[in-house]
Amino acid sequence: SFHSSAVPIPDSPLVIAHRGYRAVFPENTLPAFQAAWQAGARMAELDVQWSRDGRLMVHHDTTLDRCSNGKGLLKDHDAEVLRTLDAGSWFSEKFTGISIPFLREVVATVPEGCWLNVEVKPEAVPDSRHMAKMVASLISACAPLKGRLIVSSFNHLFLQHLSRLPRPPLIGVLSQKWQKDEEILELCIKTEAFSWHPDHRTLEKKAVQRMKSEGFSVYPYTVNDKKRAEELLAMGVDGFFSDHVRILASTFRQG
Ligand code: G3P
Ligand code: CA
Repeated sequence: SFHSSAVPIPDSPLVIAHRGYRAVFPENTLPAFQAAWQAGARMAELDVQWSRDGRLMVHHDTTLDRCSNGKGLLKDHDAEVLRTLDAGSWFSEKFTGISIPFLREVVATVPEGCWLNVEVKPEAVPDSRHMAKMVASLISACAPLKGRLIVSSFNHLFLQHLSRLPRPPLIGVLSQKWQKDEEILELCIKTEAFSWHPDHRTLEKKAVQRMKSEGFSVYPYTVNDKKRAEELLAMGVDGFFSDHVRILASTFRQG
């Protein structure tokens, strides 16, 4: 397609460690990413949002309640306060005292040759006024990756802003199961996306083939069943997101 990267994306099938090694570690924490790399992941996915004072925090939900001992919206708190929260004990006592990481800290765990997929949560982009600043902070936090980065979002306006940078990162278009294939294809073309990240539950072979024929890689989310993984690979996907990064370990060689 449109891209030539100095460091090639890892071979397919690429199992992307969803929020780190989420099946066994508290999602989106440093131990979850360290475990994913140790298990042989070549790419990990994470979710980012901005704190009230503009720091990039790695956290999935807009609220703090499920994955920490905090309450309310993440964006209503300054980073200093967010960093005092416990993001491990909700998962297991073993992980008591683990913090919500800064994006920069997760970037620092990425081994040479491995990739990161940063998903910008749609709710984290309130309007277009702050877009330039948000894009700049994201690019700066990911600079140590030297291009081994896919930025994805359900917020398609954010992706369009990214695509207008002089040197945009690889862009991944996320879509929900109710979004029309034609609309998504149009957006992939408009943003010169690298990949399409659909919900696997309603994904059909003809959509996979259409996107592949247009030059886009296809990585569905979130696949935790081995039989389903094999069906999707037979449909021609390039890989998928999984909470169990070693899901294919017994049938395919990874690492
Ligand atoms: O990036 C793929 C997938 O993570 C999107 O859904 O809700 O798990 O962030 P969600
Ligand atoms: Ca995500």
